Amino acid sequence: MTLDISFSLNGAEVVVGVRPHQRLLDVLRRTLGMTGTKEGCGEGECGACTVLVDGRVVNACLYPALEIEGRSVTTIEGLLGADHQLSPLQESLVARGAIQCGFCSPGVILSAHALLDRNPNPSDAEIRDALVGNLCRCTGYVQIVEAVQEAADRLGSESDV
Ligand code: FES
Ligand code: FES
Repeated sequence: MTLDISFSLNGAEVVVGVRPHQRLLDVLRRTLGMTGTKEGCGEGECGACTVLVDGRVVNACLYPALEIEGRSVTTIEGLLGADHQLSPLQESLVARGAIQCGFCSPGVILSAHALLDRNPNPSDAEIRDALVGNLCRCTGYVQIVEAVQEAADRLGSESDV
């Protein structure tokens, strides 16, 4: 049995049939093809499945799909600009070597994006705090924090012009 739900996905209205107890992660990846959202632990520990719901960071592996009715979901695919150009945040992560295997990167980027939306000028401690739910096995986090700081600086100077 499925129930139809409607919600906004990266700015476009979608209607999908979901089963009771189905996870948002599976609806995004399997039903809607948003494979940028990754599954790591599947139990709320690693942050690989991070998406934004109404602008707030959630773990899609723990989020019941039925509860997404009427809400707004942003996945990593939703951050690409026209012609698929990377956002300043994504560019900074690439430039700083903060993306290696890339498995954690969608979740890291979405958590950092949410941070910069609510706090355009975060301290290093605030960046680390915002990313505490996103585990990375590759970079050791220094480059990630530097990249987010660089993106904040870039976005700040762009808004000054
Ligand atoms: S897959 Fe969701 S937190 Fe790890
Ligand atoms: S870049 Fe590999 S897990 Fe973060």
